[in-house]
Amino acid sequence: MSTLLHIDSSPLYGRSVSRELTAAFVTRWKASHPGGRVVDRDLNATPIPPISAEWVGAAYTPEAARAPQQKELLSLSDSLLAELEQADEYVIGVPMHNFGVPSVLKLWIDQIARVGRTFSYGNGGPKGLLVGKKATFIIATGGIYDAQTQMASFNFVEPYLRSVFGFLGVMDATFLTAGGTAVLNQGHDRDAFLAPHLQAVQTHAQTFQGGHV
Ligand SMILES: Cc1cc2nc3c(=O)[nH]c(=O)nc-3n(C[C@H](O)[C@H](O)[C@H](O)COP(=O)(O)O)c2cc1C
Repeated sequence: MSTLLHIDSSPLYGRSVSRELTAAFVTRWKASHPGGRVVDRDLNATPIPPISAEWVGAAYTPEAARAPQQKELLSLSDSLLAELEQADEYVIGVPMHNFGVPSVLKLWIDQIARVGRTFSYGNGGPKGLLVGKKATFIIATGGIYDAQTQMASFNFVEPYLRSVFGFLGVMDATFLTAGGTAVLNQGHDRDAFLAPHLQAVQTHAQTFQGGHV
């Protein structure tokens, strides 16, 4: 039985393009994975504190040597990590905020990038420990950042996510981007705008890991 971890990070809920697209992905994934399990993690409804010196100290203390207080400090991180480890696949909705990922997503990444859990350092350099996972990132951007455009170098969302998840061992990552959502604030028809993106997301969800077209 496959498990899909569904993460959203847009504060806009009903108006959010990335949330609408991840929801469509989940619906189609469920249809093509009978018996599959979906775990929802809404980062806008999950209070995540920034990491502190004490948190870093706890993370770098070997598990067997951690004081009860250090274990408590890592408990949120432990539960977020368990969701990642127990899932086979991830779908992650990402609105572009100020050319990067939203702060709630960065706070989550700081909790799940954990030495000894999602990466380790050996003789051969860093090694990602989240192996065998598949990730789909669904990104929404107000402007357009396609390769070859003047704005491409301002896009820190996809390169960052590719790097950090690759560092953690997730090599199988697909990026689907709905670019140019700003037109929706200028009276452009939402259904018409979303149609090709919904199509792309649904097709990908269906063919994703053992799905049937
Ligand atoms: C706080 C904030 C910052 C934003 N920064 C950018 C930006 O740097 N570049 C851009 O193209 N769009 C930017 N936008 C527009 C969003 O990327 C766009 O509205 C997108 O649809 C957000 O995804 P969502 O609809 O899932 O929330 C920003 C929007 C907000 C609310």
